[in-house]
Amino acid sequence: MAQVVDLRTDARPGALVIDAGALAGAVMGTWRGRMINEYTSSTVFAGLAEQLAALGHAEDAAACREFSGEEREHGIACGSVLAAAGGEAMFTMAEPKRMPVHADTTPRAAVIRNIISICCLSETVAVSLIGAERMEMPEGTLRELLTKIWSDEIGHARFGWTYLARELPQLTDDERAAVERYLPVAFAALEAHELGHIPAATSWPAEAAAYGLCDGADARTLFFETVTEVIVPQLAALGLRAEHAWNERRSA
Ligand SMILES: [Fe+2]
Ligand SMILES: [Fe+2]
Repeated sequence: MAQVVDLRTDARPGALVIDAGALAGAVMGTWRGRMINEYTSSTVFAGLAEQLAALGHAEDAAACREFSGEEREHGIACGSVLAAAGGEAMFTMAEPKRMPVHADTTPRAAVIRNIISICCLSETVAVSLIGAERMEMPEGTLRELLTKIWSDEIGHARFGWTYLARELPQLTDDERAAVERYLPVAFAALEAHELGHIPAATSWPAEAAAYGLCDGADARTLFFETVTEVIVPQLAALGLRAEHAWNERRSA
């Protein structure tokens, strides 16, 4: 069921003043997309928390419930930027995302698949992209907002890598094979999602960096480098055939 998410009361511009002139439309579009993306992530972590709780991993479940709250706050923060730029912090959420159950394997291997997809892939990419954007941004309120989001995303990625390193060795050969079977699917979904959010042909005047607008070609390059230079080697170090999976993603 579609659901209207109205963040207008929470997402107030406060001290943020954004007068982007001719860039206003692009600024609103960018931060609106982020608001939706971030807010939707809160439902993802809530679902992951339930799956972890069902496995008996209560502490990990509690961490993911906290992450869910942080993603909601990120959504509100991005909504406040949208509001400061002249937009309305509300949107229609098509269908609250359901966590994949992965019925072809055991619950614990299924959770590992979801941890890889959400934390080791998406959140690691987020750390990279937001980190780069933050570096380009001059000191100020908007940079502080991005710093808070960035530091939370680092926590979300780190949680996943730590969980994976701890739990992967517990798996049977069949379960490990089930995790590896899924990697090309996860990479394909990551690539489709990220490239969908990074238009190839966007470049802006120099002042655009102050509003968080990034060059599409640079962001795409950074995305691919994050996968091949950080994520793939890290998964491989844990004993997973990640390079093969990345190369096979198009036939997944
Ligand atoms: Fe976030
Ligand atoms: Fe996150």
